[in-house]
Amino acid sequence: MEAIALILAAGRGTRMKSEMIKVLHPILGTPMVMWPIKAAREAGLSPFLVVGHQEDRVRATLHQESDIRFATQAIPRGTGDAVLCAFGVLPQEGLVLVCCGDTPLLRANTLASLLDCHHGNLATVLTAKISSPASYGRIVRNAQGEVQAIVEASEATAEQLAITEINTGCYVFDIAWLRQVLPSFSPHPPKNEIYLTDAIALAAQEGKAQAVVLSDFEECQGVNDRWALAEASRILQERVCRKLALQGVGFEDPLSNTIEEGVEVAPEAYIERGAILRGNTQIGAHSRVGAYSVITDSQIANHVFIRPYTHIEHAQVGDNCRLGPYARLREGSVLSERCHIGNFVETKKSTFAKGSKANHLSYVGDASVGERVNIGAGTITCNYDGFQKHRTIIDEGAFIGSNSALVAPVQIGSGAIVGAGSTIAKNVPSDSIAIVRSVQKNVEGAAPRFRAKCKAAKEKSQS
Ligand code: UD1
Ligand code: CA
Repeated sequence: MEAIALILAAGRGTRMKSEMIKVLHPILGTPMVMWPIKAAREAGLSPFLVVGHQEDRVRATLHQESDIRFATQAIPRGTGDAVLCAFGVLPQEGLVLVCCGDTPLLRANTLASLLDCHHGNLATVLTAKISSPASYGRIVRNAQGEVQAIVEASEATAEQLAITEINTGCYVFDIAWLRQVLPSFSPHPPKNEIYLTDAIALAAQEGKAQAVVLSDFEECQGVNDRWALAEASRILQERVCRKLALQGVGFEDPLSNTIEEGVEVAPEAYIERGAILRGNTQIGAHSRVGAYSVITDSQIANHVFIRPYTHIEHAQVGDNCRLGPYARLREGSVLSERCHIGNFVETKKSTFAKGSKANHLSYVGDASVGERVNIGAGTITCNYDGFQKHRTIIDEGAFIGSNSALVAPVQIGSGAIVGAGSTIAKNVPSDSIAIVRSVQKNVEGAAPRFRAKCKAAKEKSQS
C-alpha cells in the first residue's frame, strides 16, 4: 500500500516578520517546505501538503513538483483541523506520517525508522529530550513509562511543564482510525483550535500509542524566525558539503561556502574558501573553483581552473579552460576546450571555440569567436547601437590588437590581424591586416625643449 506523508503548512509564521509565508523562505536555494517533502520522498513516502495562508503562492512556487497532492485549510483552526481538511485527498486506510512544513532538518532515515517503529499501533509520536522545552508540547508518560498524552505548554500544569520530553510534531497514524476519531475532537479555548496531539491520548486509552525518542534534537528543530532559518541553513550546508567531501570533493573551508541543494560537484574537484555555487550548476572532475567565486546555473567541465573572484552565470565552460581572477561570464557564454578568459574580461551571449583567449580587460558580447583567436587587452565588441544588438564574428586564428573596438555587425576573417587601437566598423577579409589609426608624428629633440619651457613658466609664476 502507498505510504503517505502529510506535511502541514497552512500556518502563516508571523515571527518571520515577512510578507511571505514562512515555508517559502529559501534554504540553500530551496523553499523551506521542500526539505521535509524531499525527506519524505527519500523515505519512500508520497507527499501531501496542507496549504492555506498564501495558498496560491505556495502552489505556484511548487508547480513543478508534480507528485505533490494538495489539500486546503482555508482558516487555520489548528493542527487537527489541518488533517481533517486533508481527508478529502488522503486514502481511506493505511498509514500516514504527519510532519510540519517548518522542520527542514528532519532526515529521511528518521522518517523511515519512525514508520518501522509503528507496527500495529494507532499513533506513534516522535519525541525529543531537551533542556529548555519552552513552548513545545510535553510528553506525559505513566509509571510504566508508557505514553499517555501530549499536553500543550499553554495548558500544562507546573509539574507537566517540568517534563523535558517534547513533541516534535512528527507522527505516524493509522488513517482509518484517525478518520473515525478526529471529527469528534473538541476545540481548545481560547483560540478554539483542534489539536492533532489529542489523538495520542485516545490511542493510549486503547493501549496503542507509542512515543519514539529522537536522539538528535537538532533534526526536529522548527524554524520560527529568521535566526533559526539561518541556523538551519548552516546545518544543511554542512550536510551538503560533508556528503560531497565523502564523495571525493576537496574543500578548503566548507563552512565558508554556499553550495545550494542540487549542485553537482564531481570527485577530485576542489572548492576554495568562500566560493558560492547556486542553482543548476555542475562542476567537473579535477576542476578548481577559486576563492569567493560565484557560479550560478552553469556547467563547468573537467580540469577547469577558476581563479578567485570569478563570476559565472548561465554559462558553459569546456575542459581545461582557465578563468579569472575577476572574470565575468554572463548568460549565454559558451567556452569550448582550453579557452582563457582573464581578469576583468566580461563575456555575454558569446561562443569561444577551442583555445581562444581574452586575457585582460575586455568586453565580448554577442560574438562568435573561432579557434585559437587572441583578443588583446581592452578589446570591446560594440554590440549595441542604442536600438538593437548586433553580432561580431571573429574567425579562427585571428588576432585582435589591444584597445580595439569592433563595431558590430562586423566580421574579422580567419588569420586576420587588427592593429592595436583600431576602431573596426567594416569587415576584415581573411589574412588581412586592418589598422585604423591617425598617423604618428615624431618631432626630434622636442622633449627637452618642452621641459625647459614648462620649467621657466613655473619659475615665473612662483617669483
Ligand atoms: C505543535 C504541537 C506541539 C509541538 C509542536 C512542534 C499541536 C496542538 N501542538 O505546536 O505539541 O511540540 O507543534 O513544533 O499540534 N498548521 C496548519 N494549520 C493550522 C495550524 C498549524 O497547517 O491550523 C501547521 C503550521 O503551518 C506548522 C505546523 O502545523 O507547519 C505546526 O503548527 P504550529 O502553530 O507551529 O504548532 P505549535 O503551536 O508549534
Ligand atoms: Ca511551531
